[in-house]
Amino acid sequence: MFFADIYFVPFCSTLRNVEIPAFLSHPAMRAYRSRIITYDFRGQIHDVQGYLHVKDGRVVGVENSPRDGAEIVDYRDHVIIPGFVDTHVHLPQVNIRARWKPNLLEWLENYVFPEETRFLDPEYTRRNAARFFRNLARSGTTTAMVYGPPSAKATDTAFEVAVESGLRILMGQTLMDQNVPEELITPVERAEKDVMELARKWNSGKLNYVLTLRFAPACSMELMRRTGDIARELGLGIQTHISEQKDEVALVREMYGDDYAFVYDKAGVLTPKTVLAHAIHLSPEEMSLISSRGSKIAHCPSSNFFLHSGRMPIHEIQSHGIDVGLGSDVAAGPYFCMMEVSRDACYMNPISPERAFYLATMGGAKVLGLENSIGSLEPGRDADFVVVDIDSTDSTMEVLSRLVFLGHAGRIVATYSSGHAVWER
Ligand code: GUN
Ligand code: FE
Repeated sequence: MFFADIYFVPFCSTLRNVEIPAFLSHPAMRAYRSRIITYDFRGQIHDVQGYLHVKDGRVVGVENSPRDGAEIVDYRDHVIIPGFVDTHVHLPQVNIRARWKPNLLEWLENYVFPEETRFLDPEYTRRNAARFFRNLARSGTTTAMVYGPPSAKATDTAFEVAVESGLRILMGQTLMDQNVPEELITPVERAEKDVMELARKWNSGKLNYVLTLRFAPACSMELMRRTGDIARELGLGIQTHISEQKDEVALVREMYGDDYAFVYDKAGVLTPKTVLAHAIHLSPEEMSLISSRGSKIAHCPSSNFFLHSGRMPIHEIQSHGIDVGLGSDVAAGPYFCMMEVSRDACYMNPISPERAFYLATMGGAKVLGLENSIGSLEPGRDADFVVVDIDSTDSTMEVLSRLVFLGHAGRIVATYSSGHAVWER
């Protein structure tokens, strides 16, 4: 038996400022009977027919037989895998998927900016944030790094809904101060104040505030520098977009007189806690720079196909020593389900389903700096897992291949976050 050493990690709920929802307290140990495919501490695939033991929101261990007194939950015809990690997704775009326009800047102007303006209304945000988190849960995503609404008030509301969802959410107000409609602009001083207030309020338990800069064309050097200083001081994660389409890359060079990654570096926002989305048209010098800063990349193949952005050179990027995770990039990516995003990763570049599965789980956890708490089902980790309806008579590689090439949200039987069902079919 692989996970022989059983140890308990006391569950300490550190959500401050918020009421802990009643469903987050579950005293008894549970044993989920299933085929369980996960990773060991070396990152090797582990495939066990047995019982996933969970107590107080954490994994106790995977064993051949149930422990005395454990409450058994029978998923024997299904497969249990670690919850999916979406490293790049936009909350205020939940309603505008599949609006086709094969050019980023035109798509933003036509569809994204008008819709994101609607999220200035906290009531619209409350309703649609609930829809957004429901979509994540029913797709098997238990952790996501999220671009939030364009105002502090609506972002605060989105965080309140995130708490209710039970999911692990890293999110920030989407900051812009130029080249976008007036209503979407947050001036620099206002942005500094918003970041400090929201980061203080929403940075504990399963929630983290992330400095969220839309992209260099919509953010002045001053905005990036000054909010970047705050992020480094407070140890916040940072997220932005980089090098998605060629005309966008040319625009950045024209605006700032430098290549994209160098612009972000001058602004001080390339840190080991920075996640850059897309990274399709980078020069080798930019890749070396990103690598030397320890920044990570969110690969969004479904979005890249949808907007005709180009082929992300994943092997070249990884050979520079840069960590890569997968992002749905909803709404430029049409699917919330990371099985579908994994499939597109396999179509875009010759990578194996096993590799794509890694990127959607452990790889994503590493990109978000959460590799010690999520991404696999080792003892002591968060009991974040998904029950999938997939033929479990095949070999490990065949199951993973089915999962990637035939996977979709309809196959998700249940999604558990910290040991609690956040979605059931
Ligand atoms: N670049 C700047 N903003 C966005 C966005 O909302 N989606 C995508 N795909 N790219 C962007
Ligand atoms: Fe995006």
